[in-house]
Amino acid sequence: MLCSLHLCGTLNRCAAPCIRGARAPTGLAVTHLVTDPCIKCKYTDCVEVCPVDCFREGPDFLVIDPDECIDCAVCIPECPVNAIYAEEDMPVDFASFLELNARLSRQWPTISRSIAPSPEAAQWKDETGKLSGLDPELLGISPLSPTPNR
Ligand code: F3S
Repeated sequence: MLCSLHLCGTLNRCAAPCIRGARAPTGLAVTHLVTDPCIKCKYTDCVEVCPVDCFREGPDFLVIDPDECIDCAVCIPECPVNAIYAEEDMPVDFASFLELNARLSRQWPTISRSIAPSPEAAQWKDETGKLSGLDPELLGISPLSPTPNR
């Protein structure tokens, strides 16, 4: 299926049933997600209330393991920067976090207790678009190929 994003008015809502109904092609099965506001903040209030230890900790933010999350939603109101969304409520700007939560949760270790927030949390908490400032290699995203010399 091809989508025209500039014509799409559904805010990515089509992706939830599509991905869940067809796990084989994408390998994705996501329930709740950690998104951009968590980056460089890592308040970790969310971790303390999770009944199934589904959070995974990376250097700059947390993700949720879709295989462990039970969709209880208790973590959503705990996050002081509103970084956690149910898959079906996720703003379209955060669409890339669907894949990131699923993939990085298989690589990063479990965090099951709150820790001190990132030292720069207060400085970063109101910033947006923080994902683009992270090292692509760290996220497993291939950097753009360099322009060949002519
Ligand atoms: Fe991140 Fe919010 Fe949890 S900032 S670590 S999702 S409480």
